Amino acid sequence: MVLPPTDTVGVAVVEAALTEARRVGVESTLVATIVADSGIGLHADLASPPEPTPGHVWPAGDAAESVPVGWVVGVAHQLAETRTTRRSRGAFYTPFEVADGLVGLVVDRTGPPVPLRVCDPTCGAGWFLLCAAERLLARGVPVRQIGPSLIGYDIDPVAILAARLSLALWLAAHDGEPGSPVLHVHDALHGAEPPSLGGGCDVVVGNPPFLGQLRRRSARTGAQRNSLLSTRGYADAAYVALERSIDWVGDGGRIALIQPQSVLAARDGEAVRSRIDNEARLIGLWVGDETIFDASVQVCAPVLEKRPSPGPLHGRLTTYRGATVEISGAVDFASWPELLADIQGVPEVVGFAVVGTHNRSAETLSAIAAPTADFRDWFYWVASRVCEAGADAEPGSCIPVFTSGLIDPLAPLWGLRPARIGGKRLETPCIPVSVVAAEPQATRRLVPKILIANQTRCIEAVVDFEGSWLPNTPVITVAPIDPADVWRAAAVILAPVSTVAAHRAAAGSAMSSGAVRLTAKMIGRLPLPTASADAWNEAAALIEVASRSEPDVTLVRSHLVEAGRLMLSAYGLAHRQDVLEWWTERLPPVARR
Ligand SMILES: C[S@@+](CC[C@H](N)C(=O)[O-])C[C@H]1O[C@@H](n2cnc3c(N)ncnc32)[C@H](O)[C@@H]1O
Repeated sequence: MVLPPTDTVGVAVVEAALTEARRVGVESTLVATIVADSGIGLHADLASPPEPTPGHVWPAGDAAESVPVGWVVGVAHQLAETRTTRRSRGAFYTPFEVADGLVGLVVDRTGPPVPLRVCDPTCGAGWFLLCAAERLLARGVPVRQIGPSLIGYDIDPVAILAARLSLALWLAAHDGEPGSPVLHVHDALHGAEPPSLGGGCDVVVGNPPFLGQLRRRSARTGAQRNSLLSTRGYADAAYVALERSIDWVGDGGRIALIQPQSVLAARDGEAVRSRIDNEARLIGLWVGDETIFDASVQVCAPVLEKRPSPGPLHGRLTTYRGATVEISGAVDFASWPELLADIQGVPEVVGFAVVGTHNRSAETLSAIAAPTADFRDWFYWVASRVCEAGADAEPGSCIPVFTSGLIDPLAPLWGLRPARIGGKRLETPCIPVSVVAAEPQATRRLVPKILIANQTRCIEAVVDFEGSWLPNTPVITVAPIDPADVWRAAAVILAPVSTVAAHRAAAGSAMSSGAVRLTAKMIGRLPLPTASADAWNEAAALIEVASRSEPDVTLVRSHLVEAGRLMLSAYGLAHRQDVLEWWTERLPPVARR
């Protein structure tokens, strides 16, 4: 590929390399040779390198001192590209401390200093490889062995040029062989294993592109989809890179690849999680947040060891947090959603879980009530008949329709907030009584029940004690077998530990991070309290008072919190103030009327 000398990105990269060469006392001919060898026609115009301009290609302040030689070439690459170009390739480079910290987790091992072969499959300007070079040097690996053990691929020729330049500068500055790293333009996600990988490596580390497949701009082509072996067609490109890494490291090899946190629980991540379960062992987990990249995604990096079969399965793993990749604790691996719940700070309640995951013998909510979810046909029935109640509607002439958005804990928001149903925005969504009366599947729903919003940070439910509301899909309906049990069932659903159990069973299942997607099955499997029937009844009584005095929002909230406290006693967990605090913090702000 030949870029015109006017290619601003390429020019910026070469300018930065020439300036860096001068700073560290390396001949500028090295840069010229690498550019000439790359086939990118830029070198002729760059005989006299410009002076470094702080804030342009130089990291600000002391940062220039702490980063490895050559780092600045990647800075130039990053700054010269437009945001649109970077987004289309998922090209967001990794801050030095994060890259260096993750490299440390896979490269710094005890034992003699051997030249581990380190590969970054989507290396950009080679920042992870620079960190690996420094760490291998610090471990005592001779420089002449470091160069050939650095392997990187990228689909962007200018990124590969930047990687060649930055690693060559580092090696030249350390008396190594500048041309020795293995750096090639290659599609690491969809292409075959490159021969230059030499049959495998010891470490894969990096930050692959995050390319969600639901956006057209980043979706893969049909041919690319066909080339994926096991990952589903809609899996994020980052998951695919993780699968490739498992293919590329040898037994005992380590992997630390940055991923969206969704890899721990999303449905499309199932394929890669099962590969990890079968072929690797999770030995650590780094947790970042959305501030680390300017891409507003919550990130993590599972640290994996490829296990020879049969090897030990996941056990206890160390967690690391933040930009400095510091140890934050250790957790026992129980399941992927629980792992995500752990790192999201969901409390652990030993012995309490949605039945079917841990405590199969406990009696569950389904013993006193029937949770159901409606299907599409009900949604279409509602959507084609729903209308505004109108200011002059006769009381009782319309049946209110509830969407998830109209449900806060014990606070029905019908008439207070608009709802969107079948593309229509309605202030007071309802269906005329005469229409409902003619439809058996609607009249059968007019019974005392609890309505639950389906995707929330904490379980949000309202009690329709008169049986005069209709749910709209995907609201979950819980109808007590004995109508008098509606309050006790509501107390179980709204108990703080039920929200804990939902998160531990289904963390990562909702669209927004920190929320869960509830299912009728999960609600039916919530355990009933066995430690104190009195506390359960008291909580139920408070929920009844709150529901009947609904416009008094302050009273409703204080009764809800008190009922939550009583339900902890009902479950024998009165000492778990932390659970109460965690749950209270998740309650939505009181909606004022
Ligand atoms: C998030 S950036 C990370 C770069 C580098 N690892 C870092 O963090 O400094 C992702 C890189 O992946 C590259 N890339 C995107 N799709 C690729 C593919 N199919 N194969 C190889 N590289 C790819 C992009 O060009 C970009 O340089």
